[in-house]
Amino acid sequence: MNEMMQVEMTVNGRVRSFDVAVNHTLLEVLRDDIGLTGTKECCVVGECGACTVLIDGVPMNSCLMLAVEADGADVLTVEGLATDGHLDRLQQAFLEQGAAQCGFCIPGQLMSAHALLQRNPHPTIDDINEALAGNLCRCAGYQQISAAIMSSAEGAGR
Ligand code: FES
Repeated sequence: MNEMMQVEMTVNGRVRSFDVAVNHTLLEVLRDDIGLTGTKECCVVGECGACTVLIDGVPMNSCLMLAVEADGADVLTVEGLATDGHLDRLQQAFLEQGAAQCGFCIPGQLMSAHALLQRNPHPTIDDINEALAGNLCRCAGYQQISAAIMSSAEGAGR
């Protein structure tokens, strides 16, 4: 039987306290314990970025992090981007630019892009390429993803 530990973390703005198995990753806990399945499970070895969430504003591969390591952290998942059922500007730009093809990598791409725009509201293409280097897209839709981020950035402050 797994050893359990109580953790408290803020997930998408809501403080949650719950027991987690000490050997479970944050990805497992988000998807299986909390039911936030927007964060995707793919390679589980830190290669693809599909599992990207923000920990205290920093993009992290949740498959490489134990849930207990997130104790006390502020966790933002893709479910936390929309407000009252309305897509945020970045999500809307992905939609308008056709950036989501099969869609599987998009939650991770969105989270890395969101973190980039938080720290750099007007990124260059090089900034975007660097920030999203850890997020792979098997459909190779990188141009549409970059265009969406650029267009979201250009709309900032409108
Ligand atoms: Fe975590 Fe691929 S599932 S990096």
